[in-house]
Amino acid sequence: MTERHFASLPALYRGEEADEALRAPGFSAVFVRGEGKVGAPLMLIGEQPGNQEDLSGRPFVGPAGRLLDQCLAGIGVDRATTFVTNAVKRFKFTLRGKRRLHQTPNAGDIARYRWWLKEEVRLVHPTVVVALGRTALRALDGASLKSDRGTLLSWEGRTLLPTIHPSYLLRLRDQRDDEEARFREDLRTAARAAG
Ligand code: URA
Repeated sequence: MTERHFASLPALYRGEEADEALRAPGFSAVFVRGEGKVGAPLMLIGEQPGNQEDLSGRPFVGPAGRLLDQCLAGIGVDRATTFVTNAVKRFKFTLRGKRRLHQTPNAGDIARYRWWLKEEVRLVHPTVVVALGRTALRALDGASLKSDRGTLLSWEGRTLLPTIHPSYLLRLRDQRDDEEARFREDLRTAARAAG
């Protein structure tokens, strides 16, 4: 994909869905668009669509999405007022029998979508971008989740807040309540900064 600017989000999505160069082996053909309001002050970026997102064509509708919605609602933020998207737009998986098992995107996968994600951010024009987990953070070129988590950073003229991915919480056996409370605090920090 050449580095050009699109006039609107629908134009960006139309262009990219047609661009087969973005479809690498091991990925679903389904392109999952971001969802929410253009101009939303708060933008949340995840890793990649999962199985349920791939089947429905919508971001964050599976277990991690439901948890994200609950955490947002818990701090008084309606997801409909935000913009939710992913660093990588297609589900990467391997087949085990009939099951499609999630594969973490590698550096090349992230790089393939990086310009595109930045263009999406430019068009949504949020005040604050929340990177949900390492893949999103790598896609936005930077920061360390370990040292910068929950911190408001300056990133390309906007504010960036790195935090964990909600699927991390779903995998926890111990200290889930503490970790979830911390995640909510991170989201609250971002929402306050977004105004
Ligand atoms: N995990 C993500 O990172 N994104 C989704 O859309 C769903 C699960």
